[in-house]
Amino acid sequence: MRHFLDINKTSVTDLRAMIDDAHAMKAARNGRPRGAVDDDQPLKDMMVALIFEKPSTRTRVSFDVGVRQMGGQTMVLSGSEMQLGHGETVADTARVLSRYVDMIMIRTFEEATLLEMAEHADVPVINGLTNRTHPCQIMADIQTFEEHRGPIAGKKVVWCGDGNNVFASFAHAAGQFGFDLTFAGPEPLDPEQKFIDEARAKGSKVEITRDPVEAVTGADLVVTDTWVSMHDAPSARERRHNQLRPYQVNGALMAHAKPDALFMHCLPAHRNEEATNEVMDGPHSVIFDEAENRLHAQKAVMRWCLGV
Ligand code: CP
Ligand code: NVA
Repeated sequence: MRHFLDINKTSVTDLRAMIDDAHAMKAARNGRPRGAVDDDQPLKDMMVALIFEKPSTRTRVSFDVGVRQMGGQTMVLSGSEMQLGHGETVADTARVLSRYVDMIMIRTFEEATLLEMAEHADVPVINGLTNRTHPCQIMADIQTFEEHRGPIAGKKVVWCGDGNNVFASFAHAAGQFGFDLTFAGPEPLDPEQKFIDEARAKGSKVEITRDPVEAVTGADLVVTDTWVSMHDAPSARERRHNQLRPYQVNGALMAHAKPDALFMHCLPAHRNEEATNEVMDGPHSVIFDEAENRLHAQKAVMRWCLGV
């Protein structure tokens, strides 16, 4: 049984196999109706629980559709409606769910909740975002980069903004997929040093700079994300906006990237805050391919977890 908890906890060989599988499964859909099942139905007779302790559009819909396309069934559970949100332990929840379902995807706050779920579940557990990381998103992002530009190994990826959970999974991926990563953001919002050290230890060139123009110069991919994440205190909004405004991805900044650079944002976006409409809807942007690829990449992740 395999859990998909983080990109740094999964072998490079398995990650590569999942991305290749995602490309192949996307091609195999070949324009068939969204609700049509895949020919091989690898999740036939399987039940998957999707637990959300935070809001979601992409993760919720892409996992649900993905399971159904693979012939399985889903139940979407909100944390607050479960006993989990009213005092039952994560461990007991994991043990009980393991008697009913074949796989669990959870979006939660604390990483400890995800890890406890995985420790006590008898079925695979998938990380659908914690305060600390968002690995499924970055699997889709790698797939998206590669379908547009070929192998990501050796490329320059630049993150502008908050050193948050999505950045953290990019740092994991830099180490595993062998690309260079530059973080441009204000010092108070730097990522955890551990993520940087680990990527560097795996041979990736990782730089931190306060200068967004210097960062973006020569970039193959420019990425940003919301300035205030779901787990951030709403009271921090104004301070964060002031700190992050110089790192807005706009047309003037993108002009320093390579002419064929891609722009990504995991969405949801606050348009004209972290990135302007000019960039979000401009020629570099692949944001809706990214969103679509959540479906294909996660189908590959689920197959890997279940060995089907
Ligand atoms: N990118 C992403 O995870 O989106 P949702 O919050 O809508 O799931
Ligand atoms: N960093 C964002 C990502 C949302 C998909 C958050 O955690 O809210």
